[in-house]
Amino acid sequence: MESLSVRHLLGIKGLTSHDVKLILNTAQQFKDVINRPIKKVPSLRDVTVANMFFENSTRTRLSFELAEKRLSADVINFSSSGSSVSKGETLVDTVNNILAMKVDMIVMRHPNPGAPVFLARELQKYPKSAHAQIINAGDGTHEHPTQALLDAFSIRENLGDLIGKKVAIIGDIMHSRVALSNIYCLKLLGAEVMVCGPTTLIPKYIGSLGVKIEHNLMKALEWCDVANMLRIQLERQQLKYFPSLREYALYFGLNRKKLELLNKKILIMHPGPINRGVEITSDVADSGHSIILDQVENGVAVRMAILYLLAGKTAS
Ligand code: CP
Repeated sequence: MESLSVRHLLGIKGLTSHDVKLILNTAQQFKDVINRPIKKVPSLRDVTVANMFFENSTRTRLSFELAEKRLSADVINFSSSGSSVSKGETLVDTVNNILAMKVDMIVMRHPNPGAPVFLARELQKYPKSAHAQIINAGDGTHEHPTQALLDAFSIRENLGDLIGKKVAIIGDIMHSRVALSNIYCLKLLGAEVMVCGPTTLIPKYIGSLGVKIEHNLMKALEWCDVANMLRIQLERQQLKYFPSLREYALYFGLNRKKLELLNKKILIMHPGPINRGVEITSDVADSGHSIILDQVENGVAVRMAILYLLAGKTAS
């Protein structure tokens, strides 16, 4: 069996193009499985997975749980609210205690960038925990690798091979883990990437990642084959980056009128949750151009592939 070059999925950074293609190809096989009348396979029958969410989630949390159950894994769910984290227990102590219950894999969402990398490193110091694989389900403004992989899968499903495809990532790039993981993933697959948004929401380092930068939405739409519309992450913004949501929607929001000005059809994506009427209007989000719910559907197959490929990877 082909295998990944990594033992944990901490980010897209650190993966090879072979890793990404292996995940996407394996996900295709699992997509076929979950479209059968019997959607379950016994692949992870002896594996126990803990889903640990220190930050809110709908899509990622439920999609991981469903992927684990479709693979016949045993699943436990932890959310920081209502846990002993409120009594001062550290992240490492919390995870060591969960792993002591014979848990094999940890899926973790955490508000702090780098938390999964820190955890993977710290667990090596504890013989009873060093066996565990860590999967990053989104760490602050850093990475969201499974989102980028399901996005790449969804583009490939609609447009074929990604080599030379033009993808514009539009919106709050500064606070987006989806943007960074998408940039790494799309570049590994040979796509061209542009980021578009107000100057205040485009980090200065982003050009060093080999992406084009555009501040005019219509120019970005004219350039791209795919527009991935990102949410304005008001909960992460400490400053005022634009005068008002109304003005943001006017200059950077996607609506039917702007799409109709293009003389071509482009694919519209959004990782969710959507701020309807801000970065995208309902008539676009719910239109035939949009593959937003396909992304969600594909998330289960992609996460099945990741769990399957990482299960059994032992500490070296
Ligand atoms: N796309 C995404 O990560 O959504 P959730 O925050 O609902 O998991």
